[in-house]
Amino acid sequence: MSYNLLKGKRGLIFGALNENSIAWKTALRAHEEGATFVLTNTPVSMKMGTIDKLAEICNTIVIPADATNVEDLENLVKQGTEFLGGKFDFVLHSIGMSPNVRKGRTYDNLDYKFLHQTLDISALSFHKVLQTCRKFDAINEWGSVVALSYIAAQRTLYGYNDMADAKALLESIARSFGYIYGREKFIRINTVSQSPTMTTAGGGIMGFDKLMDFAERMSPLGNATADECADYIITLFSDLTKKVTMQNLYHDGGYSSMGMSRAAMNVYNEGLEYTDVEVDLSKHKK
Ligand SMILES: NC(=O)c1ccc[n+]([C@@H]2O[C@H](COP(=O)([O-])OP(=O)(O)OC[C@H]3O[C@@H](n4cnc5c(N)ncnc54)[C@H](O)[C@@H]3O)[C@@H](O)[C@H]2O)c1
Repeated sequence: MSYNLLKGKRGLIFGALNENSIAWKTALRAHEEGATFVLTNTPVSMKMGTIDKLAEICNTIVIPADATNVEDLENLVKQGTEFLGGKFDFVLHSIGMSPNVRKGRTYDNLDYKFLHQTLDISALSFHKVLQTCRKFDAINEWGSVVALSYIAAQRTLYGYNDMADAKALLESIARSFGYIYGREKFIRINTVSQSPTMTTAGGGIMGFDKLMDFAERMSPLGNATADECADYIITLFSDLTKKVTMQNLYHDGGYSSMGMSRAAMNVYNEGLEYTDVEVDLSKHKK
């Protein structure tokens, strides 16, 4: 259902790779809610994925840009605002990638060149986007910027690897830049900490199906889907959330407030045994 929440608003959306992407779902909802926007992704992802199809549905263009490359971003901001005929009212940063995760390097055996890439792609790119937008004064007053995060920024989750460090940095950038952009232009900057979601990026995490099952059991409302995440992001782009800024907002069915749930406890009650226990718990007893 459409509420015209974004009628007349212009935007910039990073990170739609295919139909499963959180950015894809958000673009569809933004279109439904009356926004106009440009889409962007890396040239490689544009070839790998199906973003052109999304652009056709949303009556827009795709401007190629690597979000780690400031020159690309400058070109994107110039071309994007020109195409839309005005400044952006909202920006979605839905970007994440870890070469260490991709290559199966564990957190105690990181390749540091890869770590730099993880941090650059998944966190510093957010700073680069914000700094470029500010340089060209490309976001309207009372505009809204959202980046996607994950609870591994606060808590250790097995297998999330160096992406946890990237998310912690991403959330910090939202606060630090949120102060500057808020004070100057009333622009709000938030991160949405989403449930595990089966997408290309999500599926790359070690044991992701188990992580999803655990989160589902732990969350009183169940895992939040990509479509539900898109709905939430739309509210953050709308004028209904004008004074929400510098926050990390959990969109996770209650997971972040839980310690143990009955559904998770049942796994033990059913007598299921983990076969890959890496620690001998008897050693913990004195
Ligand atoms: N899927 C999950 O479980 C989950 C949970 C919480 C947060 N998130 C976050 O949501 C965001 C979107 O991921 P998704 O789950 O929709 O997966 P996805 O794979 O569909 O999206 C990731 C996007 O990042 C883009 N990207 C990678 N490198 C880039 C670069 N250098 N420049 C520009 N774009 C680049 C990819 O092309 C892709 O479109 C990410 O920040 C991810 O960490 C995902």
